[in-house]
Amino acid sequence: MNVDGKAYRTIWLAPDNKTVEIIDQTKLPHLFTTVQLTSLEDAAHAISAMLVRGAPLIGATAAYGMCLALEGDASDSRLAQAYETLLATRPTAVNLRWALDDMRSKLLPLAPEERQAAAYRRAAEVCDEDVEICSSIGDHGKNLISALWEKNERKGVINVLTHCNAGWLATVDWGTAIAPIYKAHDEGIPVHVWVDETRPRNQGASLTAWELNRHGVPHTVIVDNVGGHLMQHGLVDICIVGTDRTTAAGDVCNKIGTYLKALAADANGVPFYVALPSPTIDWTLEDGLRDIPIEQRDATEVSHMTGRNSEGELVTIQLTPDGSPAANYAFDVTPARYVTGLITERGVSPASREGLETLFPQQQAMTAS
Ligand code: MRU
Repeated sequence: MNVDGKAYRTIWLAPDNKTVEIIDQTKLPHLFTTVQLTSLEDAAHAISAMLVRGAPLIGATAAYGMCLALEGDASDSRLAQAYETLLATRPTAVNLRWALDDMRSKLLPLAPEERQAAAYRRAAEVCDEDVEICSSIGDHGKNLISALWEKNERKGVINVLTHCNAGWLATVDWGTAIAPIYKAHDEGIPVHVWVDETRPRNQGASLTAWELNRHGVPHTVIVDNVGGHLMQHGLVDICIVGTDRTTAAGDVCNKIGTYLKALAADANGVPFYVALPSPTIDWTLEDGLRDIPIEQRDATEVSHMTGRNSEGELVTIQLTPDGSPAANYAFDVTPARYVTGLITERGVSPASREGLETLFPQQQAMTAS
């Protein structure tokens, strides 16, 4: 994607081909700054402090974290330490474990002196694959938007509601839930996006709005409680969200508040789609409510908020009274029955084991064996 005319991915290598560079997402939308990662600790911090976030980008950063960790010591024990350190950074997005398992399985059979170069090669492939996957998700999701546009006899505008940020900032490029919107917009289909602000960290208001602005996609930021009202009044044609982990049975874990949007969509007959790359499917889990670990973050993310004051300075203010405790559940689970369809790189499937296995038959074979 372009930022002020320059093409960016969310993660790339510096000219020394070792240092990893990222966009510091904690500063957006007010400041566009990049940060260099040179060690395992830098990569782990970038993920846990959410300089990078979004399931696919967390996975890509972990892959590069493994590369950085092997500098000067690529022994089995160092590999194991890097794996554990990175795995502990955030609990919910399964792409983290997917990327680490993938890296470990490719590096362990190699001699230690071959491992770091191989790690950099594989991390680059993980990133390239993510871009391809997200572009395909965009194509399949765009067909859904296009079908709605045809149904409306090409009149008016297609209103899409999204939650959190599942745009290019959450992936290496393109995004998942937002990729179909970019592709539809680029093809001339008039789309307008309702952007949930997504308290407490405001990924919608800060990141999705920033992205859509850069790309020139018409959008409106709304507080998280508005979606139901809009749906009751026919102002949402389709919801598209991302996910951090989807079970083999199609239960979808995503940013807190997604479940309430799915309930409102169900009650109002609005199609509710979830866009996901295949590394976000956790084939080991069936029951999302029971089995997916839900991250709980620091209460200060609820009690405080950061923004720009009238002098243009970034300031943090306290919202809640001294002494009031706050709880910060970061994700929730939407049961498969509320999901109209899963938009993957291989097409759109029902949110069910049968649906997913039709698109990914090799998984069916692996589960059976
Ligand atoms: O806490 P975050 O910002 O990492 O949460 C991100 C989300 O919930 C996204 O919707 C999800 O990772 C899908 S990203 C393509």
